[in-house]
Amino acid sequence: MPQQAVTTQQIIIIGFMGTGKTTVAHELGRELNCLAVDLDELIERREHRSASEIIEQDGEGEFRRIESHLLYETLEAARARIIAVGGSAWTIAVNRQLIAERRALSVWLDADFELCWKRIVSGIETRPLARSREMAARLYNERRPVYELADTRVTVSEEDSAAEIARRVSNEILRQQ
Ligand code: S3P
Repeated sequence: MPQQAVTTQQIIIIGFMGTGKTTVAHELGRELNCLAVDLDELIERREHRSASEIIEQDGEGEFRRIESHLLYETLEAARARIIAVGGSAWTIAVNRQLIAERRALSVWLDADFELCWKRIVSGIETRPLARSREMAARLYNERRPVYELADTRVTVSEEDSAAEIARRVSNEILRQQ
């Protein structure tokens, strides 16, 4: 398959677990007619194990190493214009630096904790770093100030459809250009 060159700025979708990053990224890809990928899905394809399996089997440190490496590759390859990343990717300084070096636009999907938690518990995905409400709430509060460093923020509430959120993100992209 011929490689599709990126002619416009890459968009990184960040935010806590359960904010809908993957769904919104794919929706945005449809709306902007460009390739959208989810970093955890790329990791799973490469490693033949899910993010949570890697964390459980090899530890969080090993997962972070794989994640940073694949983020670098994905940014450099520049096939995908939109990249949704796992909840902690943005909290790692080296990842933020990679994103800044590529002059990619970071978009924070900001949902309140109750909505994230509701989706975490009802989701089929296991989240080893958010096994209890207390663990998840602590992470949520610790990470908020770092998510605030994103270039732009889009607020997400329960009644918003993925299409509506994607529209808001694309308006933000236009506003930032
Ligand atoms: C993580 C979030 C997960 C996944 C991994 C670690 C986190 O992705 O990357 O389990 O520490 O927030 P989602 O944010 O897509 O759930």
